Amino acid sequence: MTKDWLRWHQDYESPHSSLARRLHVVQHELRWALTEGPHDAHDVRRLISMCAGDGRDVLPVLAEHDGGRSVQALLIEVDPTLSQRARMAAATLGLPGVEVRTADAGATDTYSGVHPAHVVLACGVFGNITFDDVRRTIAMLRALLLADGIVIWTRGRTDDGRDPSHDVRTCFAEHGFSEMSFTSPADAKFRVGMHRLTAQPVPVPPVPPGTRMFSFI
Ligand SMILES: C[S@@+](CC[C@H](N)C(=O)[O-])C[C@H]1O[C@@H](n2cnc3c(N)ncnc32)[C@H](O)[C@@H]1O
Repeated sequence: MTKDWLRWHQDYESPHSSLARRLHVVQHELRWALTEGPHDAHDVRRLISMCAGDGRDVLPVLAEHDGGRSVQALLIEVDPTLSQRARMAAATLGLPGVEVRTADAGATDTYSGVHPAHVVLACGVFGNITFDDVRRTIAMLRALLLADGIVIWTRGRTDDGRDPSHDVRTCFAEHGFSEMSFTSPADAKFRVGMHRLTAQPVPVPPVPPGTRMFSFI
């Protein structure tokens, strides 16, 4: 049975929920990435959000960051209802630089023709895919990011007390990323990481059509 992601988003409405607290951290890190992170010669930042949901982590931050004028954002979300909500939120906030694509973020074909970004968000992704897919996705981030590009990611602690975010951090280090921050509240399961690509970006590998980075399980 596939998960009801519309219902999942409802937890954001409870201000003290773990998800609402996580949102606060992700938005804080995104503000930091947009303010201090890399940009092009015209002061423009390109952003990709994988599995973007309704975009509530990204869109309000873009609106407060100079009205979104300096950010070109691509939000990729497979669910048509959620992606339409993100599109409407972007329109309401007056963000012309936002494109919401109803598409499969796990398929490398989705990124063909997409320019590498200064910031990538992978929030709510790593906990829903196998660790092999996490590894493959982190490896692909070297092709989706520009030099010094920043990735903001999340991974929750599991009910049995394990904390898979440690393996995610190790994997980022193995792929040439340096940690900028890691938030792990003792009284909540969510973890938010922020890594910068300090190794050289790699050209998009010549993957055959139909190659996958990840699939939700
Ligand atoms: C845990 S939610 C995270 C949403 C958002 N990133 C956030 O943190 O609020 C996972 C989202 O991924 C979407 N999703 C699942 N598989 C996907 C895929 N292959 N491509 C794009 N989106 C996908 C779901 O519809 C859902 O909105």
